Amino acid sequence: MAGSVLQARRSGPLRGVVRAPGDKSMSHRALILGALATGATEIEGLLEGDDVKRTAAAMRAFGAEVTQLGEGRWRVEGHGGFAEPADVIDCGNAGTGVRLIMGAAAGFDMASTFTGDASLRGRPMNRVLNPLGEMGARWTGRSGGRLPLTLQGGNLTAIRYLLPMASAQVKSAVLLAGLGASGVTEVIEPEATRDHTERMLRAFGAVVDVEDAADGRHIRLAGGQALTGTSIRVAGDPSSAAFPIVAALVTPGSEITVEGVMLNPLRTGLFTTLREMGADLTIENAREEGGEPVGDVVARHSQLRGVVVPPERAPAMIDEYPVLAVAAAFAEGQTAMRGIGEMRVKESDRIALMSAGLSACGVGVEEEPEALTVVGSARGNHPVNGKARVATHGDHRIAMSHLILGLASDQPVEVDEPGMIATSFPGFVELMRGLGAEIETA
Ligand code: S3P
Repeated sequence: MAGSVLQARRSGPLRGVVRAPGDKSMSHRALILGALATGATEIEGLLEGDDVKRTAAAMRAFGAEVTQLGEGRWRVEGHGGFAEPADVIDCGNAGTGVRLIMGAAAGFDMASTFTGDASLRGRPMNRVLNPLGEMGARWTGRSGGRLPLTLQGGNLTAIRYLLPMASAQVKSAVLLAGLGASGVTEVIEPEATRDHTERMLRAFGAVVDVEDAADGRHIRLAGGQALTGTSIRVAGDPSSAAFPIVAALVTPGSEITVEGVMLNPLRTGLFTTLREMGADLTIENAREEGGEPVGDVVARHSQLRGVVVPPERAPAMIDEYPVLAVAAAFAEGQTAMRGIGEMRVKESDRIALMSAGLSACGVGVEEEPEALTVVGSARGNHPVNGKARVATHGDHRIAMSHLILGLASDQPVEVDEPGMIATSFPGFVELMRGLGAEIETA
């Protein structure tokens, strides 16, 4: 599909039961912790997307044996730490991959060189390099701490680090470096971010202390703790489930079920927001799997209304604003998304690209440095026109969001670089077609 164009057109009711692909955040962490641990780790439900495959290859380069046993079933044989890689580590499109791996690598006395695709080479790494530098790591790279860069680790000392931005990647990099540091590393996050690293470190036998205080969440980890291989079951990715769910909400007559969706409260900001907008979403079979709350999400077509999404919700739905903007386009009234400046440093500047893509499709939008407002088309306003080819700048979520828009707009919507969808959601087009979506190569 690389280089081709995909087109989504107005579709009939979406119906059916699907399973969300494995969670990207958990998948990266399972491979990295498996490689840091001693002994075998068996992973079930691993996301076999391009980003995660890059992390699997990186773990091999750092000395672990990583084998695919079957669909989503992987085995990592770790040797209790990283060995110096013989070649450059290419993390592709994956910010999570490179930032977490750099954190883990910093704990070892060795040099490693990291690079990525054009998008990743443009993204800020200083947010991770600054705290790693405070701990004693050194690096040399391009201006602004951009990739490619070479990191020299070893001899780290624990720090107390107040997160300057709500980022689970930065928190995780510091904690993973802390494993290899002398002393107790403490990260303070004024706003809690996804806690998969903390949960999974415990599953590998580490002691992680989490305390909620007036100034935020304090996470403490003593250096020198040994990890032991374990079994990890990766839950379904709520950030991927978001696409078929929003598709069902905006396509008349639809009713779908997405099974096995991770419902960690630090990931479910989108579902909270959609419910506030009037979405008919129900959770069935709520259960726990692999240390995470999980459920089957049933979504039915709903008349949505605009809401103000508060800034403090951003960490719990940071990757879901693009598809929320699509839901907002079909709502009655305006939806204001505030405090979302972090969207600008994702795989693309997602505020700018959603604003450009929605406007090209005839949706009213207002872009601010840290906010995006979408004017819904329902009642009295114009319908969503569509009839645009959207430049995705290689961003998987920008591509999927606009394809969902095309399922309910008057005229088809096209996206370029659809091959990038496989970074996080391999099989997206087939899954959507199975529900009745009309998505074709144009
Ligand atoms: C992730 C954290 C988020 C998110 C990314 C995955 C993680 O990034 O956007 O897709 O797995 O820790 P930030 O931590 O930079 O906000």
